[in-house]
Amino acid sequence: MPDRYAVVGHPISHSKSPAIHAAFAAQTGQDMIYEALLAPLDGFAATVGQFRAEGGRGMNITVPFKEEAWRLADRLTERASLARAVNTLSFNAGEVQGDNTDGAGLVRDLETLGCRLATARVLLLGAGGAARGVVAPLLESGVSRLFVANRTSSRAEQFLEDFADMLVYCMPGVLAAGGWQDAAAAPYDIVINATSASLTDETPPLPDGLYAPGSLAYDMVYGRGLTAFLKQARAQGATTLADGLGMLVEQAAEAFELWRGVRPDTAPVRDMLRAATPPLA
Ligand code: ATR
Repeated sequence: MPDRYAVVGHPISHSKSPAIHAAFAAQTGQDMIYEALLAPLDGFAATVGQFRAEGGRGMNITVPFKEEAWRLADRLTERASLARAVNTLSFNAGEVQGDNTDGAGLVRDLETLGCRLATARVLLLGAGGAARGVVAPLLESGVSRLFVANRTSSRAEQFLEDFADMLVYCMPGVLAAGGWQDAAAAPYDIVINATSASLTDETPPLPDGLYAPGSLAYDMVYGRGLTAFLKQARAQGATTLADGLGMLVEQAAEAFELWRGVRPDTAPVRDMLRAATPPLA
């Protein structure tokens, strides 16, 4: 019997994870299957429990269950603990281990895009789960200064408290209309949109002068072509535009390696998905 894995979310039919993991498994000769599971909004724990009882070995977790998965895990990696969000569960020896591979996926993709993280000034937009997941891996990768901007002050202040001993400069309320007057830290080498604004094709209101020469604008969403954030970045002088497709493939590779002990080659899988995705032009 092949080992079983799955991605669980609500909705789930759009997920590219089954195709990505099938490609990794074929490439590395792993005997496994990877399914997509729709969990009812009030039935995440039951879905995980049933999959585990049926012999499942691991799961990826997507919207809206990452925080619930963080609560459900018996043991957390440090990066998952800091993120307060889990995207990868492993079922080993009667224990549920929770990890978060999103940040490592982002860092790898940024490196693939040619970013020199050690000297980069990075602006992270948003202070929700997506932003929390990438803070520690970005700092571990050597990012020299990480600035975080959020619309709602209370959420930004909580964020600052949680990451207080890290090198994070937080700008509460900055993404609210007219909030930028005190944010003098620009320009940035990398601006990452970790807000959920792109899901409704909105963008946080950003001022001119954010983008340094040669800078990158990175939207964590994928499959939406040129989002409002990326259009704004292009108009404001960002040199390179990227969506989250590479991060998606890299976070999957990180989970795959965790489960199977072998690192897949992400480039052909990214190219395969890119060919079927709206262009960023
Ligand atoms: P996720 O898990 O995707 O991060 P989340 O935890 O609900 O989702 O967080 C959403 C983030 O996007 C928040 O930082 C939110 O800002 P607020 O704290 O002010 O709510 C941000 N966000 C969503 N829509 C936005 C918009 N139109 N402009 C600016 N920020 C937005």
